[in-house]
Amino acid sequence: MIQRLLCLSFVCVVSIVVISCTHQTNSLRYIDFNANWNFSLNNLSSVEEISRIDSSWRVVNLPHDWSIEGEFNEKNPAGFGGGPLPGGVGWYRKIFTLDALDSTKRIAIQFDGIYLNSEVWVNGQSVGKRPNGYISFEYDITPFVNFDGKPNTIAVKVDNSKQPNSRWYSGSGIYRDVRLVKTSKVYVGYNGIFIRTPAVTPATASVQITATVKNDLQEDKTIEFVTEIYDPQGKLVKEVESSHPVKANEAIDVDQSLNVQQPERWSVHSPKLYKAITKVVIDGNVVDDYETVFGIRNFEFDSKKGFSLNGEYLKIKGVCLHHDLGCLGAAFNVRAAERQLEIMKSMGVNAIRTSHNPPAPQFLDLCDRMGFIVMDEMFDMWKKKKTEFDYSIYWNEWHKRDLEDFIKRDRNHPSVMVWSVGNEIGEQWDSTGTVIANELVDIVHTFDTTRPITTANNEAHPINSIIKSGALDLIGYNYNHGMFGKFPEDYPGKKFIATETTSALATRGHYDMPSDSIRVWPIAWDKIFTDGNPDNSVSAYDNVRAPWGSTHEETWKIVKKHDFLSGMFVWTGFDYIGEPTPYVWPSRSSYFGIVDLAGFPKDVYYMYQSEWTDKSVLHVFPHWNWTTGKVVDIWVYYNHADEVELFLNDKSLGVKRKTGDDLHVQWRVPFEPGVLKAISRKNGAEVLHKEIRTASKASRIVLEADRTNILATGKDLSFITVKIVDDQGNIVPDADNLVKFQVKGDGYIAGVDNGDPVSHASFKSNERKAFHGLALVVLQGAKNKGKINLTATGQGLKENSITINVE
Ligand code: GAL
Repeated sequence: MIQRLLCLSFVCVVSIVVISCTHQTNSLRYIDFNANWNFSLNNLSSVEEISRIDSSWRVVNLPHDWSIEGEFNEKNPAGFGGGPLPGGVGWYRKIFTLDALDSTKRIAIQFDGIYLNSEVWVNGQSVGKRPNGYISFEYDITPFVNFDGKPNTIAVKVDNSKQPNSRWYSGSGIYRDVRLVKTSKVYVGYNGIFIRTPAVTPATASVQITATVKNDLQEDKTIEFVTEIYDPQGKLVKEVESSHPVKANEAIDVDQSLNVQQPERWSVHSPKLYKAITKVVIDGNVVDDYETVFGIRNFEFDSKKGFSLNGEYLKIKGVCLHHDLGCLGAAFNVRAAERQLEIMKSMGVNAIRTSHNPPAPQFLDLCDRMGFIVMDEMFDMWKKKKTEFDYSIYWNEWHKRDLEDFIKRDRNHPSVMVWSVGNEIGEQWDSTGTVIANELVDIVHTFDTTRPITTANNEAHPINSIIKSGALDLIGYNYNHGMFGKFPEDYPGKKFIATETTSALATRGHYDMPSDSIRVWPIAWDKIFTDGNPDNSVSAYDNVRAPWGSTHEETWKIVKKHDFLSGMFVWTGFDYIGEPTPYVWPSRSSYFGIVDLAGFPKDVYYMYQSEWTDKSVLHVFPHWNWTTGKVVDIWVYYNHADEVELFLNDKSLGVKRKTGDDLHVQWRVPFEPGVLKAISRKNGAEVLHKEIRTASKASRIVLEADRTNILATGKDLSFITVKIVDDQGNIVPDADNLVKFQVKGDGYIAGVDNGDPVSHASFKSNERKAFHGLALVVLQGAKNKGKINLTATGQGLKENSITINVE
């Protein structure tokens, strides 16, 4: 049974009229509930002990991930796949009061995500359990709270003790936002608004609104339901109102529709957002108001021509992202996610796959605002398990509820254009795949029919029982790039998406010659310990891939070639904690990223930038510090030019041109120290030039902030790149100096990193070794205005400092 919101009284819309008066809005419904929780790890045996005051408790602000604070250890039960950090059982406690005025209200608490297996109690009474670690949910706590200023205790148990339960780093704790919701007892239900734009032309767009309004009172009410539409500039452009009876203790669905003339359409290049403010009005008073951001756009997948947005064809140039934020762990932070997306955007990425779980809701807000197409994914497994304690255990009891909540939470986001109901699902190989695929598609369609549904399949053949179900709108392949070209033949008339591609491997700053022979690592799983380099590094020439994968260039060349291939999602945009293929311990994070865990691009980033953006690109690598006589391959990614000429110490090494479908040019040169210079030219005129110099010994530290002014919200971050340079300012490519940080003023160090997948140093520290010349320190600002001063010192290095304004 799908647990739908009750729609007990079917009420027709009495009238929809455009009215001129604007109602005053109600007070804010949401209260940020993240600050000042008490936290204790592995110290309580039951909720009865929640009031025990002892030294095991400490104060934390949410979002909070206790695993990232721990130590890497091979023996941690998450294993190297899950990122070998500790799990355990965490308890959170918060005491709060409500005053007498609140006693007429409905009080609820919303959690955006708790990993894993949470149970919540209010004043000792259990209000619910939620096993899924990525789903957002709300509990109505009205019956359990005191309203007279007497303290209320909310207790949350988070049980991430049974591991492995994930194939990647999950984090542990209340790792996303929490809010308290106070409304009148006649109110818009949780995720109770659905806005869609079924018909969009440049001249006009129809907007349909469905709202679930609940009446928790003991008496029947008549409501005026008002929707105001604001354009991207914040101007009120439309207002509709309708009147509806709502019986005591019942819920109704209100439907409204309207047209917006000359809509400013949402696109990846110009992500225009509209806002709907819906108000529930009783006797002339606004008793609830609810804001929904939405976009006006239409899109289509075509079996021959691929994907189009607002009538224009565009290739989906996507990346898969896991949810961790590097050294900040799973604890969601808007600025950290925004930075990841900025880095992706400037590489030319226009789409994100939220592999393999619902993201933080604010992540989708960012995608709406920044212009990314999202493939929003729900499950990494159905009934058949992938790790011992994973969600398959809860499948029977929970999948319907979780899928429903997921669709209802995310269906207003203009960025979300594809639902994925599963990644590499075990059931694809037997007949149960057909049954479950049909069931899941039916559930999705109950709540949204405006987006195509897919699954990410290993088995690209039509014998795949999930594909065979015929239930899916898009056929999704993971890997199998050799079969892309045959798609129209294998699936006549069907639409395609490369749900996951590539799985190439690289360590930033490490290069193995020769660059043009492809290493397939590990060759087989039983050889996992013998393949690869002794120091667990992987060459960054785009010449290493997993056996099931392909190099970046190889993959993009195929996707680029055929219009019917609507696009691809590269595994992965960023490195993530866990899954350190091709190695195991002591490696502890992935090598798949186009960008490393600290946010520093690997070289192939610039191949994509040269292909996926309008920027002029000339990227020359590797570094120029080798032993004399060593034969070194030099690669250049470029665009907007016909040719590149390379010079070593002012002597030309010749001109090279990309031919056919080439994506780079290459020289093979015996090393001699000095200056390597590349010049790109178009019609003989210089477009760009680049120089790489042989660095001498490390002499000083350079600090570069992504932002020197941050907001005094207590949550904002400045990401500071630490460079080890020689006395001429050249980055020293093999520098691994230990850098110590001292912070003064209105902020603190939220994390440190250097992108090294083998390091076991803590992410929560005031020191970090450089890795290939770079390190990262993340500063978090206070809630008050002021300044943060960071000083970085290292033995034998000239120190440096930087000041960040907190405003
Ligand atoms: C895929 C899988 C991803 C990740 C990747 C590594 O098969 O969907 O989650 O494991 O392989 O190459």
